[in-house]
Amino acid sequence: MAFSVFKGRSPREAVTERLKDSSPGDSLCAMLRGCSDAEWVWALTEGRAEIERLTGLLPTLPDAMQQRRFTGRNDKEAFAQAAGAVGVFLAEARALGLDVSRPGLRVIDIGCGWGRITQTLFRDFEPGQILGCDVMPEALEICRASGLGVELKQMPYMPPVDLADGSADLMVAYSVFSHLSEEAHMAWVEDFARVLRPGGVLVVTTRPRAFISYAESVRRQPDIPPHARATANAFKDSQSWLDRYDRGEFCFDAAFSDGAGRPEDYYGEAVVPGAYAETHWGRFFESVRFTPADKHRKFDQSVIAARKAL
Ligand SMILES: C[S@@+](CC[C@H](N)C(=O)[O-])C[C@H]1O[C@@H](n2cnc3c(N)ncnc32)[C@H](O)[C@@H]1O
Repeated sequence: MAFSVFKGRSPREAVTERLKDSSPGDSLCAMLRGCSDAEWVWALTEGRAEIERLTGLLPTLPDAMQQRRFTGRNDKEAFAQAAGAVGVFLAEARALGLDVSRPGLRVIDIGCGWGRITQTLFRDFEPGQILGCDVMPEALEICRASGLGVELKQMPYMPPVDLADGSADLMVAYSVFSHLSEEAHMAWVEDFARVLRPGGVLVVTTRPRAFISYAESVRRQPDIPPHARATANAFKDSQSWLDRYDRGEFCFDAAFSDGAGRPEDYYGEAVVPGAYAETHWGRFFESVRFTPADKHRKFDQSVIAARKAL
């Protein structure tokens, strides 16, 4: 038997075949739901440039510098991380009893930045199901200019957000709660619980415990590159922060400043332990799950997920 029979298809071949089998006018979600992460990342990067049908259905990409400003990554690396994150978000939502394939399910991408996570959600949701929110008008402008094609909303730095009670089924936030102070964190958790419908799920990421030691290792480098200076400033006296984390305390250091003009003590580096989430989120949610980054191993942040009582 020829060797090629055993060889797996490349992402390009798999995506091209799915597109061939689809009908004209099909959405991304209709054509590609269920494809593997490798296939979806290929479609979002090389495929978007190579295949006219994908070009027409996806927004344009901001340049590498704009992408890196929000996430420190661009193109394939940025989308590989996003695909891992969306996979974990949906797995968490399912584990908490949400049927994520229910037609009309309403999803909010909190802190959408340039729209990386938002468009990664297009494998599982129609753009019309998604609302992208951010505090930075400039981020929303980039999303609009790229033709992201979802509803967009500017958020205030502190709640409430102008969204109706019970108006969302799933709310996700990648690398947003990784930066919020304890006051902002808890205020938003309460407000997002209000916005979720009963049975709805909130999934957010936070810096992992290892970030505290990582900041220490960056500080020890002889030449700290400009993009790592904020990290080098965070969690000085790392052992005392590690002890706080292990006691279940919220670890926030506002040393980080990117000059974006945010309110003082609002934005920095946040490392939130599971014990904190379980105790404090429990005031607003029926079930809370914490998955450390070294357990899911899909990306370098820990995950807090919670379900609102029915
Ligand atoms: C590190 S970026 C991540 C962007 C995007 N989630 C991604 O992974 O590509 C954090 C984003 O959250 C936004 N942000 C910060 N606080 C927020 C809040 N309370 N509500 C909504 N967005 C917020 C920032 O303006 C920024 O665009």
